[in-house]
Amino acid sequence: MKTKQFYLDHNSTSPLSKKVKHFLKGGEVDFFNPNSLHPLGQSSHAVVYEVTQFLHDYFRIPSDEFFLIYHSGVTEGLNLLAHHFAEDKLGEMKCFISDHPCAYEQAQRFKSSQFELISTNSDFEFESCKFSENPTLLNWTVVNNLSGHVFDYQTLKKFKNRFIQDNNSVFVHIDAAQLIGKTELKKEVFDLLNIASFISFSGHKFGALKGVGFSFIHNTWKKKMNPFLYGGEQNYKIRASTMNTLGIYSLKLALEEQREKADMLVKVEELRNEMKNLLEQDKQWILPFSNFKTESVNTLSFCHHSLASDRLLPAFYAHGLYVSPGSACTSGAAKPNFYLEELGHKHLAKNLIRVSLGAENLENKAEILGAFTQVLENIRKM
Ligand SMILES: Cc1ncc(COP(=O)(O)O)c(C=O)c1O
Repeated sequence: MKTKQFYLDHNSTSPLSKKVKHFLKGGEVDFFNPNSLHPLGQSSHAVVYEVTQFLHDYFRIPSDEFFLIYHSGVTEGLNLLAHHFAEDKLGEMKCFISDHPCAYEQAQRFKSSQFELISTNSDFEFESCKFSENPTLLNWTVVNNLSGHVFDYQTLKKFKNRFIQDNNSVFVHIDAAQLIGKTELKKEVFDLLNIASFISFSGHKFGALKGVGFSFIHNTWKKKMNPFLYGGEQNYKIRASTMNTLGIYSLKLALEEQREKADMLVKVEELRNEMKNLLEQDKQWILPFSNFKTESVNTLSFCHHSLASDRLLPAFYAHGLYVSPGSACTSGAAKPNFYLEELGHKHLAKNLIRVSLGAENLENKAEILGAFTQVLENIRKM
C-alpha cells in the first residue's frame, strides 16, 4: 500500500492557495505589461494598482506614509537595503543571531566595524547592544522560522525607546516572511509594522506564487534610495524589470484566503501542541525553544539527544511525514545549526528536526498524529 504523504514544512514554503489554483485553472492569465501605454497594458497597470491598495489596507500601512515596491521576496528586499546601506556608505547594519541567513550573510558587504550580529537568549534582552551615531539598519524578524519565536511589539518598543528616540538614525527593517498563517494578526502586530521604516514579505510563504514579494518603504526613503536593478522606471526606479503581474495578483488572492481561514489557527496550534506533548513525554527528545516567550502556532523544533537529522529524516519520510532539518534554504545535507550553537546547544546542533504545520494538515490530523507516534517509537529502537 502506498504511504500517504503529509507536508509538514510550511515554513519553507506553503502550498498554493485554493484561490490561486482556481484562478490559474480558469485560464484568466491574460496579463499584459503594465508599462505598455495601450489599453491592455493599462488594464494590467490597474491590477497592480488594485493589489497595492489592497496590501496597504490588509497590513494597515498608510499609503500616504509608505510606498510599496514589488520584488522576488524577503531575500531581495533585504539585499536591496543592505546594498544601499553598505555600498552607498550610508551606515551600519545590525541583525540577530536568530535571523535568517538572508540577514546575517550581508556581513561581507560591510566593514567588520559596521556590521554586528546581536546575540539573543530566550528572554530576548539586548543590554549589550549599542548604537553609534551612524545611521543603522536594524533587522527585526517578526516570526522566527525555526524557533517560532514571535518578536513582539512590546520588545521592539522597548528597544526603540532605548535607542531610537534619542537617535533618529536607527531604521528598522521588519522581516515578515513568516508572519502570515503562522500567528494571529492582532492589533499589536499592526502597531509593530508601523514602527518600521521597511517591511518585507515573500508571497510563497502564504500561498501566492513563488518569486514574488514586496516591501513597504517609508516615504522619507523615496528619493534617497539608489536602484538595486537599473534599466527601467518600474518600482519608483528602485528595482527595474517588467513587473510580475500574475505573481502580484496571486498575492491578493492568497491573502484573501488567509483572512478567510484565520480562525483555523487555533486548531493548527492544537495539533502542534499534541505533537509537542508526545515529544515531552519521550526522553529521547529535547525541545530547545520550549521556554521562549511567544511562539507561532505552527512551528515545533526538536532535537534528538544523540542522532543527527540525516539519520532521523528517513524515519519520518518512511511514514510520509515531510519535515525539515531546519532551514531549507541551506539545502542538501543537514549542517550544524548556527542558532542552536549560539544558544549553548552545540552538542544538539546537528540533530534538529522542524515540523511546520499548515491549515490543510487539519484534514489529516488523526493520521498525522498516528504516523508521528509510530516514527518516535521507531526512532527509539534505532
Ligand atoms: C524568516 C525568514 N526570512 C527570510 C526568508 C527568505 O525568504 P525568501 O526565500 O522568500 O526570500 C525566509 C525563508 O525561509 C525566512 O524564513
